[in-house]
Amino acid sequence: MNVVILAAGQGKRMRSRRPKVLHLLAGQPLISHVIATARALKATRICVVYGHGGEQVPQAIGAPDVVFVRQAPQLGTGHALQQALPHLGDSAATLVLYGDVPLIRPATLQPLLAAGAGRVAILTAEFDDPQGYGRIVRDKRGGVAAIVEEKEATAAQRKIREINTGIMALPTAKLPGWLTRLKNHNAQGEYYLTDIVPLALAGRVAVHAVRVNEAWETQGVNSKAQLAQLERMYQWQIASGLLEQGVTLADPMRLDVRGDLACGSEVNIDVNCVFEGSVKLGDEVEIGANCILRNVEVGAGTHIAPFTHIDDAVIGAHCRVGPYARIRPGTRLAEDVHIGNFVEVKASEIAAHSKANHLAYVGDSSVGRNVNIGAGTITCNYDGANKHRTVIEDDVHIGSDVQLVAPVRVARGATVGAGTTVWKDTAAGGLVINPKTQEQRAGWQRPRKAAKVKP
Ligand code: UD1
Ligand code: CA
Repeated sequence: MNVVILAAGQGKRMRSRRPKVLHLLAGQPLISHVIATARALKATRICVVYGHGGEQVPQAIGAPDVVFVRQAPQLGTGHALQQALPHLGDSAATLVLYGDVPLIRPATLQPLLAAGAGRVAILTAEFDDPQGYGRIVRDKRGGVAAIVEEKEATAAQRKIREINTGIMALPTAKLPGWLTRLKNHNAQGEYYLTDIVPLALAGRVAVHAVRVNEAWETQGVNSKAQLAQLERMYQWQIASGLLEQGVTLADPMRLDVRGDLACGSEVNIDVNCVFEGSVKLGDEVEIGANCILRNVEVGAGTHIAPFTHIDDAVIGAHCRVGPYARIRPGTRLAEDVHIGNFVEVKASEIAAHSKANHLAYVGDSSVGRNVNIGAGTITCNYDGANKHRTVIEDDVHIGSDVQLVAPVRVARGATVGAGTTVWKDTAAGGLVINPKTQEQRAGWQRPRKAAKVKP
C-alpha cells in the first residue's frame, strides 16, 4: 500500500514561523507520528507532500524510507495528491493521511483499508459541531453522493453532522484519471480531493464511508490550543495503558511520556514526572514526584526520590537515588548504590554497595565496590583543556570535602581524610591526608558593624 501524507499547508493559526507539522507532540514532530503510523501499517511507499516552510520539513524529518515531494504553490488537497502520483508504487491502494492529524491509530485505519479494496473508502466522523469540515452528503439509499465543503454548502447541508476526516483509501490505478479531471471552480479556487467522489461514482467505482469510533483520533492541529488538547489526549492514552498494565500513577493527568516507557510489575510513579526517549523501569521501582528520566534503564526495587534528573544512564537494582540528584550521560550504577541529595554523577561506573550520599561531583570515574564518598567530595576531572579519569578502588573511604585531582587512583582499602587534596596515586590501605595544622588564637575579636548614627 502507498501512504501519502499531506503536509504542505501553512497553519497560519499556529502563529509560528515553524511549519505546522514540525510542532511537537509528545516530544516528536506531528508528522513523525503520522509516519510512524504509516510504517506500522507496513506501507510499501511513504510519500510526504510538503510546501509551506520550504525545505525545513524534509530537513528535519529526512528518513530513507520516506519520499518528500514539494508542492508549490499549494493549490488544494487534490493538487497535493497529484504531486505525489509520479512517486507512488504500483500497490492497488493509496491511503491519504494528514500530517497535522497525528493521533490516528493503525487499528482505526484497518477497516478503512479493508473497505477501500478496489473502491473509495472515506473515514468519516459524526461531530456535534461540524463547522469548518466537509459534509458527507448521502443519496436516498444512504450511499455517499458527494462531499461538500463548508464554504459551498447550502444551509441544509450545513446541518449534516457527518463530516469528512480527510483520511481516505483510494484505488491507485484510478487516481491519474480522476485527479487530472478536478476543477478549481469553487469558493477557494482550489483543486479539492473531495471532488473525486462524483468522478468515482460516474466511473462505477463504489464509495464507502467508514465511521470512526473515537472522533479525537481524527482531530487536526490548527492552533496551539488544539495542539495542547491533543497532547493531553495522547498523554491520557499512555497513562490509561500504564494503569491497565497495573502501574500505579499518583495522578494520570500529571504524567508526561515523550517516547517509550516500559514498566515491570508493582511500579509506582508519583506526580509530575517526565519520561523521554526510551525508559525501562524494572519491577517494584518507585519514582518520586518531579523526576525527569531520559533514556534510562532502572533495575528492580530501585527508588528514585523526588526532583531527580537522570539522562542516558543505567541504574542497577535496589539503588537509592535522590532527592535532588543529577545523573548525567554515560553513568552506570550497579546494584545497591546510593546517590543522595545534590550529588552529580557523570560518565562514571559505580560498583555495588557504594555510596555518595551528599553534595558531591563524581565525573569520569570508576568507583569500586563498598566505597563511601563523603560530602563535598569533588573529582577534579577537567584541567581546562582535557578530561581525565579518577579510579577509586574497592573498600575505599573518602572523607568530606576531598578533591581528587585526575588522573588519579585511590587504591583498594585506602582512607582519605577530610579536606584532603589527592594529587598523586595512593597506596592500598592506610590513611591519606595533607599535612595541615590548626592554630588556636585566644582573645580574637570578630569585626563588628559600626553603630548607626541617627540623623
Ligand atoms: C479538508 C477537506 C475537508 C475535511 C477537512 C478535515 C478538502 C477539499 N477538504 O479541508 O473535507 O473535512 O480537510 O480536516 O480536501 N494540504 C496540502 N496542500 C494543499 C492544501 C492542503 O498539502 O494545497 C494539506 C494540509 O497541510 C493539511 C491537509 O492537506 O494537512 C488538509 O488541508 P486543510 O487546508 O486543512 O483542509 P481543509 O480546508 O480543512
Ligand atoms: Ca484543516
